[in-house]
Amino acid sequence: MSGSGSLPNVVAPGGFDLILRGGTVVTPSGRLQLDVGVIDGRIAQLGSLASATAAEIYDAKGLHVLPGVVDPQCHFREPGLTHKEDIGSGSASAALGGVTTFFEMPNTQPNTDDPERLAWKVARARETSWTDFAFFVGATNENAERLGAMETLEGCSGIKMFCGSSTGTLLVDKPENQRRVMKSGRRRICCHSEDEARLQERKTLFAGKPVSFHPQWRDEDCAVISTRNLLALSKETGRRLHILHVTTAGEIPLLTAHKQLVTFEVCPQHLTLAAPECYERLGSLAQMNPPIRDARHRDALWEAIRNGTADVLGSDHAPHSLDEKAKPWPQSPSGMPGVQTLVPLMLNHVNDGKLSLERFVDLTSAGPARVFGMLQKGRLVPGYDADFTVIDLSAKKTITNDWSKSKCGWTPFDGLQVTGWPVATISRGRIVMRDGALLGKPGGQPVKFEV
Ligand code: DOR
Repeated sequence: MSGSGSLPNVVAPGGFDLILRGGTVVTPSGRLQLDVGVIDGRIAQLGSLASATAAEIYDAKGLHVLPGVVDPQCHFREPGLTHKEDIGSGSASAALGGVTTFFEMPNTQPNTDDPERLAWKVARARETSWTDFAFFVGATNENAERLGAMETLEGCSGIKMFCGSSTGTLLVDKPENQRRVMKSGRRRICCHSEDEARLQERKTLFAGKPVSFHPQWRDEDCAVISTRNLLALSKETGRRLHILHVTTAGEIPLLTAHKQLVTFEVCPQHLTLAAPECYERLGSLAQMNPPIRDARHRDALWEAIRNGTADVLGSDHAPHSLDEKAKPWPQSPSGMPGVQTLVPLMLNHVNDGKLSLERFVDLTSAGPARVFGMLQKGRLVPGYDADFTVIDLSAKKTITNDWSKSKCGWTPFDGLQVTGWPVATISRGRIVMRDGALLGKPGGQPVKFEV
């Protein structure tokens, strides 16, 4: 499809700062052969800009230009756990993987659970982040009534509630406290949905067993019970929900039946790996919460990708050092890195015919913009931020630990050959990654939201 013939050949009088020339651009109207002109970090013009001048020209011939990929679930470990990651290394990993915006989780040390700790992260990210960013505030039993005031602060992507315990100490497991959290504020509450009582009940059942029992401990019912309870509270309070990293076949019909209340996220690793094979091959490197499950669950998640009910993809980038991962299960920590592999993994699935490129864009830019109310991000149209993920859809590359920029130094996908690769990451008109190299210096800014 080519739309360039019908668009006017307009030239900015002072020239553009940047033109992406000759690429296939994925716009809300479909894939079009267009040039994209950028002025002052915003998309100024889409059309035929053959005769326009620009300070910088990016030759996008043979490449696809996508709206910048947003990863709405990352753990970058700063402050407190910076031997695993920090905002600088995590955002570098994001940029190398084609991600232009990340939202970061509050289970750092200390937890991000008050305005000062949020402001600290925002200030730190202004200095060290390669990409745009926002941070979640963690709900606690103590701060419940103050969350409504915190969710609108600069750089806040919303409130995260851990309904079941995972890495760190954040936990709001009792329905009466979850209700208090839901009554404070208006934005969607983002939930880690596993039932704490069931997790605790079952914890001792698997003593001495290997990590392959992780999905039996944290079983399908843990997730379904918690999600059912959250939906009931959502109905009662009128507060909308976003369920993070959905993993079970049992939750999908529940979520589908309540789309007026709930949006949800799926992770690339849950779409790619399956038990028991992943535990046999990767051991505790495949351990995360909620767990990687068997192919029946993976198939259900793919159906939610195919039929449109899943709203966003998130990596749940959760790095841990190899030393920590070497502890015997269940002392081995849960989580795996992923912000850098989200785009190549999912492009490989596009090439395998598992989803269309348009659906990938919907899940990684339009979807997060809709779910979180991001301003001026998520579409390639004039007036929006000039955030682009430029991809070579036919490049054949191998994901390796060496390529991974995360401080943890490993990826569960080491050695995986994929087709489709991010070749440039452009953040508000600045090329921050080109052909695998970081360029310039960190210049990320907080995302703006309609709150
Ligand atoms: O596997 C996980 N790791 N799930 C979470 O909920 C937290 C994360 C982490 O921070 O390590």
